[in-house]
Amino acid sequence: MTDTGEKLVELAKRRGYFLQASGAYGGVSGFYTFGPQGAALKGNVEEAWRDRFAVREGNQEIDAPTIMPEPVFEASGHLDTFDDMLVECPECGESHRADHLIEDNTDLEDAEAIPISDVEDLIGEHDLTCPNCGTELAGQSVESFNLMFGTNIGPGDASPGYLRPETAQGIFVEFPQLKEYARNQLPFGVTQIGKAYRNEISPRKSVIRTREFTQAELELFIDPDEDEPDLATVEDVEVRLYPVAEQQDDEGQPITTTIGEAVADGTIASAWIGYYLGIAQQWYDRVGIDMDRFRFRQHLPGELAHYSADCWDAESELDGDWVELTGFAYRSDYDLSKHGEHSDEEFTIFKQYDEPKTIERATVDPDMSYLGPEFGGAAGEIADALATLAGEDRAAFDGDEVTVEADGEEYAIPVEKTGFTVEEVTEAGEQITPHVVEPSFGIDRVLYTILAHSYREDEVDGEERTYLALDPEVAPTFVGVFPLMDKEGLGELAGDVAADLREAGLSVAYDDSGAIGRRYRRQDEVGTPFCVTVDYEALEEGTVTVRERDSTEQVRVSLDDLTETLAALRSGDLSFDALAER
Ligand code: GAP
Repeated sequence: MTDTGEKLVELAKRRGYFLQASGAYGGVSGFYTFGPQGAALKGNVEEAWRDRFAVREGNQEIDAPTIMPEPVFEASGHLDTFDDMLVECPECGESHRADHLIEDNTDLEDAEAIPISDVEDLIGEHDLTCPNCGTELAGQSVESFNLMFGTNIGPGDASPGYLRPETAQGIFVEFPQLKEYARNQLPFGVTQIGKAYRNEISPRKSVIRTREFTQAELELFIDPDEDEPDLATVEDVEVRLYPVAEQQDDEGQPITTTIGEAVADGTIASAWIGYYLGIAQQWYDRVGIDMDRFRFRQHLPGELAHYSADCWDAESELDGDWVELTGFAYRSDYDLSKHGEHSDEEFTIFKQYDEPKTIERATVDPDMSYLGPEFGGAAGEIADALATLAGEDRAAFDGDEVTVEADGEEYAIPVEKTGFTVEEVTEAGEQITPHVVEPSFGIDRVLYTILAHSYREDEVDGEERTYLALDPEVAPTFVGVFPLMDKEGLGELAGDVAADLREAGLSVAYDDSGAIGRRYRRQDEVGTPFCVTVDYEALEEGTVTVRERDSTEQVRVSLDDLTETLAALRSGDLSFDALAER
């Protein structure tokens, strides 16, 4: 971590943003506790996310358990494929993520996409050594390491379970009921904000890569043949895109375009992904991420998750590195199909036709009094195979005999014994498996980026100052209230002012200790946008000063107007410049 990162982590601990958890017991790598400021900032970011991606989009929000039984992850593919590449040092025994060693020590990027055998070769070719003890790692085998935390549900080990590695599965498994809540109408979206767990091989960069983190995910269920997003609402949003072609070109650079153009020229293949990139860009701007240090990067083919057909990441620049904040994945029908195959529930939805359709349907009614004696135990499977074949290839029944496979054997059955018929039926609709479009936000990384992008150092009255230029919507403390001195009634009046502001729903820090300048610095460092000082004029004329953090400018506001003024500054209805002009 470079200088700014180190300073930020130090500030975060000192001022109550975040700290390594269980410090009294030596700390546990990859687990963080959010302190009072951090918890409040996280709450505000989650609220802003809920407002944009659940409320304003008209999506449902759920809250599912974090532990789920093993069959869920057999179905989802996480048990087999949710792996990272692990290489162990033969000398000190420390485990490392092999792809990260390559990225950190060579010019190669996105080493996650490189096959494991090539990674072993690259470790040798580049003479990579253990970051802990310096031992050469050439010749060490690189293993796949599953990232899920396992547990047992109830006593004994009869019922294995896992801490969910993504909140998404908690949404997918409830689809049969969620579609009822949505009155069986596509498209519909379901959101969830909650903890996810990954046993990361090498957690790093404080809250950027942890073993327990918060995701805010939206799973949008669509009919891929019918549903289109309202692209007009975001088509003019300007975005910086880093498509695959640009990444694979040595001279390639991110391109600046609009969502409308990128979808029209196919740079973004899915209009739904384009739609979410557009609203996400606006949201990131709203919560205070620096748009000059932000881009969307398309996944390289080898980088795609096992469920993903196309994926873009929102990335922010932190100390010279690009860090993924959000994955926007087109998951197709992968998840619902898998849960449909592995469970006893239907993960489909009934799609009503505009007009009822009359179609020909081929069916069989096999003569079991023939199949039974003739084929014994295979008769049932043969009957099922005939039914499947009738649905898929009715021409197979054109001759005297039809051949089907059952239990690995081929059987020739006289067509007259199959009861094959083709009838006309009128259908009102059909069962379809919806496709899923998923924006998946990592709240901890968003929070870290907000802090890093708002970190400032300047000089005020000849003194160095550090402050966080946080947006009022997310700042954990909105206003500091200080009595100039705690005497002659100033303390009581300031206490009343603080109580009134809290009553109005504003988050207030009351501080009456130390010189006023130090109190301002304390609030500047946690990013409090405004401070109110109750001085003698408050007693004499009924006015207080309101000081703005970034400019350190102050204006006098009457006590009668104070709550309303601050509420307007909080909501954005009033700017500080406009207040100063008044
Ligand atoms: N449901 C899709 C999914 O989980 P992902 O790209 O693996 O996709 C989504 O994760 C987001 O979760 C990432 O963009 C990142 O912000 C966050 N995330 C993933 N692993 C993390 C970790 N170990 N620590 C902190 N955040 C993490």
